[in-house]
Amino acid sequence: MSDWPKWLPIRHDLRELSPYGAPQLDVPTRLNTNENPYSLNESLVTDISESVRAIAKDLNRYPDRDALALRAALADYLQSSSGVAISSQKTWAANGSNEVIQQILQAFGGHEHAAIGFTPSYSMHALIARTTGTNWIDGHRDSDFTLNAASAISQIKDSRPQIIFITSPNNPTGTSVSIETKRAILETASELGALVVVDEAYAEFARTRTDSALHLLGEFPNVLVTRTMSKAFAMAGTRLGYLVAEPAVIDALMIVRLPYHLSAVTQTVALAALRHAGELLETIEAIKVQRDRITAELTRMGFNPIPSDANFVLFGPFTDSKVAWKALLEHGVLIRDVGLPGFLRVTAGTATETTAFLEAIEEIRQETR
Ligand SMILES: Cc1ncc(COP(=O)(O)O)c(C=O)c1O
Repeated sequence: MSDWPKWLPIRHDLRELSPYGAPQLDVPTRLNTNENPYSLNESLVTDISESVRAIAKDLNRYPDRDALALRAALADYLQSSSGVAISSQKTWAANGSNEVIQQILQAFGGHEHAAIGFTPSYSMHALIARTTGTNWIDGHRDSDFTLNAASAISQIKDSRPQIIFITSPNNPTGTSVSIETKRAILETASELGALVVVDEAYAEFARTRTDSALHLLGEFPNVLVTRTMSKAFAMAGTRLGYLVAEPAVIDALMIVRLPYHLSAVTQTVALAALRHAGELLETIEAIKVQRDRITAELTRMGFNPIPSDANFVLFGPFTDSKVAWKALLEHGVLIRDVGLPGFLRVTAGTATETTAFLEAIEEIRQETR
C-alpha cells in the first residue's frame, strides 16, 4: 500500500508492504490454502469438547506459560514418526508455524542481520523478515524449482546472512531439498555462524520421509526445524505450529515470545489432537493419492505439473494465469494464483473435490492456454 493517511506514523519500511491475503471465498470447492479437506472425526470432536470442558472453570488463570505437557507430547510424536530421539527441551510451540517463524526472526534477525530464502518459496518468510526489520535477501532456485547445493552455497557466501530459510517440501512448488543438499548448506552455515531454518510444514506428505532435517539435529546445533498441525493434522483452525532446535535457541525464543502466548484452550485442543494422531494422519495417504491423480491427469491434458512432495501441485503453462484462475472460480473452484506468471497451484482435496477441479480445468483449458 502507498496511500496511507498523512497523520498515521506508520514505519517507513512497512509503507509499501501488503498484508497476507489468500482469498477466503464461499465457493463449493476450496482448494487454495493447502488445508487438509477432511473434517475431524466424532471421537476427536468428543475428546476436544470434553477436554475443553474440563479446563473451562480454570480459564480465570493464565495457561502453562511454557506449554510443558504439549511440548512433551510433540516430542513423543516426532520421535515415534521419525525414529530420531527428541526431548521436550528441544521442542517449542506457538500459534501456527508463522508465529514460530516470527519469534525466530525477532530473536535472531533485526536491523543488523539478514535472512535469505530461495524463491519462489513461502512468501511469509520474506514478509515476516521485513516486519521484524530483518534485511531480506531474495535467493533463487533452478529453473525446474529445485535447489542445488552449489548454487545455494554460492548465494549464501555472497550475501552472508545470519538466517537461511529452506522450505522442504517447498511451497508453492512442492519440490523437496535432499538431505545431502541440506547437509552441505548446514556445513557452510556453520562456517559463517548462521542458522538454517528448515520449514517442514508439509513433511508428512513427502514421498521420502527420511529426507527430514530432523535427521540432521545430532550433527548440527544450528539447524531449526519448523512444523505445523495445520496441514497433515487437519488442525488449521487450532493454530498450532512447533519447532525442534537446540535448547539455547529455545531460550532465545522465550525472550521474544509474549507472556502466555499459547492459550490454555489451544494447548488442550492440540493435546487432544496428538492423542488422536493415528486417526488424523490416516488421511495423508488418501490426500497423496489425490495429489498423484492431479499430477497424472494434468499431464494427460498437456499441462506441466511440477512433481510434488506436498499436498498441492503447481502447474502451468498459462498465457495468463489470472484469467485461468478466474475461469475456474466461475466454475465454483477456488485455487491459488501464487503470483508466478504462467502457473497456478491447486491443493489436493477429497476425491470429489479433486474431480470437481479436474472437470473444471479440462473444460477451461482450451480457452485459457
Ligand atoms: C511452507 C509453510 N510454512 C508455514 C506455513 C504456516 O502455517 P501455520 O502458521 O498454519 O502453521 C505455511 C502455510 O501455508 C506454509 O505453506
